[in-house]
Amino acid sequence: MSESPAALRRRAAELRRLIRHHEELYYRRAAPEISDRDFDRLVEELQRIEAEHPELVTPDSPTLRVGGEPLAGFAQVAHEPPMLSLDNGYSLDDVRDWAGRLERLLPEVRPAFVAELKIDGVSISLRYEDGVLAQGATRGNGRVGDDVTANLRTIRALPLRLLGKPPARLLVRGEVYLPRSAFARLNREREEAGEALFVNPRNATAGAIRMLDSRAVAARRLSVLTYAIADGWNGGGQKAMLEQLAAWGFPVHEGWRYCPDLPAVEACIAEWRDSRRDLDFDTDGVVIKVDDLALRERYGATARSPRWAMAFKYAPEQGETIVRDILVQVGRSGVLTPVAVLEPVFVGGTTVQRATLHNYEDLARKDVRVGDTVRVERGGDVIPKVVEVVLERRPPGAAPFELPATCPRCGAPVERLVGQVAWRCVNPACPAVVAESIRHFVGRNAMDIEGLGDERIEQLLAEGLIRDYTDLYQLDRDRLATLKGWGGKSADNLLASLAGSRHRDLHQLLFALGIRHVGERTARLLARHFGSLEALAAASEEELTAVEEIGPIVAASIRTFFADPRQQARLAALAAAGVRPPAVPVAPRPERLPLAGKTVVLTGRLAHFSREEARDLLERLGARVAASVSKRTDLVIAGEDAGSKLDRARELGIPIAGEDELTRLSP
Ligand code: IVH
Repeated sequence: MSESPAALRRRAAELRRLIRHHEELYYRRAAPEISDRDFDRLVEELQRIEAEHPELVTPDSPTLRVGGEPLAGFAQVAHEPPMLSLDNGYSLDDVRDWAGRLERLLPEVRPAFVAELKIDGVSISLRYEDGVLAQGATRGNGRVGDDVTANLRTIRALPLRLLGKPPARLLVRGEVYLPRSAFARLNREREEAGEALFVNPRNATAGAIRMLDSRAVAARRLSVLTYAIADGWNGGGQKAMLEQLAAWGFPVHEGWRYCPDLPAVEACIAEWRDSRRDLDFDTDGVVIKVDDLALRERYGATARSPRWAMAFKYAPEQGETIVRDILVQVGRSGVLTPVAVLEPVFVGGTTVQRATLHNYEDLARKDVRVGDTVRVERGGDVIPKVVEVVLERRPPGAAPFELPATCPRCGAPVERLVGQVAWRCVNPACPAVVAESIRHFVGRNAMDIEGLGDERIEQLLAEGLIRDYTDLYQLDRDRLATLKGWGGKSADNLLASLAGSRHRDLHQLLFALGIRHVGERTARLLARHFGSLEALAAASEEELTAVEEIGPIVAASIRTFFADPRQQARLAALAAAGVRPPAVPVAPRPERLPLAGKTVVLTGRLAHFSREEARDLLERLGARVAASVSKRTDLVIAGEDAGSKLDRARELGIPIAGEDELTRLSP
């Protein structure tokens, strides 16, 4: 039964309101009321409605956050006023000198200040028109930047529509950043895939914000904080401005302090010196601004930076300690990561006992040896790192570290793959690799099996109940129930969850298998293209590279996986255990399809097809069905009562067809 248009419109509006409400709770108040999954369900429901009724899409719909079609390049945006940078200071003396300069400029005033955390990200400028996000741009050279609106829309912390009564035109400045937690996850994934790691969250952010495919940006989980209104405000000083930003619904970090005088500024710098470590973003300092806007005008600016503000930067904290040992950890794909075990040392607010050496090359370059005295730093990065060796203090006889020729967990040989920095254990049955691969298999975006945390996986391995993820489906309820810390209920829950996982979607299974280079997105593309595990397993490298976005490296990795007898045995075991994803309708060889490579937009009411059927048909014919008309649209199929999309297609001179075109193409 289909719902009436009015009911759907109401439901869409309600969903938008709910989604905004929960985004607000999650991103601005850090007080979510529903689970991530329930949140995703709301978004998915709205997406479904909008896909079937594109006329219900609004410019501020949260579904725009999932990203749109890739761009060929970025348009340029002129910044007016320009985006200036700040003069830096590195000590309290520098701060006092700066205040002294202000005093000499205007001896008769004693300015009050606002001190804010300096967010270490990428600065952006946001234009809102009538309260709706109209454009977002990078800083660029300060005068001209890139239009990255589609990418910024994917950032859930950023309001697409403002609360209250903002002015018709508003220009806001802020900083996009990658939360530390998201950064850690990103690097973990890259490590598994044998890809180069990002040095810090800022680099990862800068890379993400300039990606041409906004759907890939959405996967990065960027966030944003705002700190200035550059146009559209005449209501008071910096303090009032921050309060107003928050009232309109912008994320503003609550770490700002109103400082009536310089000692208050110094107190703020002292306050954040240690506690900044607990933030979920990197900050290397405090920005100090004169509060009063009229005064700012009088102090003025140089070509590069305003005189009324400065950035105080904390020195990265370092400590010296001794390397007791160098361990080698083994990850899911067998990648070996050296870790220095340190004599505990207090650095940057915590006791550091371990420091990562990223990879073997990093270790060899720094030539860290057991017994060495090293300088460790805990800068923005959560994980402390070894900066350098204090060579004068190297004990006699300290030997260069040699990467073991065999895996430290299982003793199998290690090898280095061509073109990769990482060394790997070649043994797919290595206990470290096995534990990690099970962890991956049961993960939320993979087979989504609940009730199997790290400890339980280790326990099942230690008890000999499993040796591989395929064994999970053979677990015996009564045996589980007798395990330490289990009981009948946990055993039943796990078995129920395992039973449910037998029919996960194909893309989830593909991701769960842990094929190197096949992340969530690639798994979806493959599922859609091949439709079944069997078809994918039978695909040649050539057929694989014919899939959009699949290059030779990924194709080769998929071939290697399916050609591996051990993996074949695993797949057979999964099939025997009843793991069978529902079939995905597929298109045959896309290049031969009548609408291959074409972008089609559906609009209006169709007499003989439901929206879903029309979309399915077009996709099976090789088309990409888009929600809105743009220059890149190849064809618009208009049913009855088509509205603004049809107008737009006419405006842009895009070919328009009627429903009969669908009937004609339909097999
Ligand atoms: S105010 C006219 N406030 O730092 C200067 N900037 O070195 C306007 N930044 O380009 C900037 N946090 O990207 C300001 N609370 C904050 C900031 C901040 C980070 C960045 C911003 C700016 C750079 C200046």
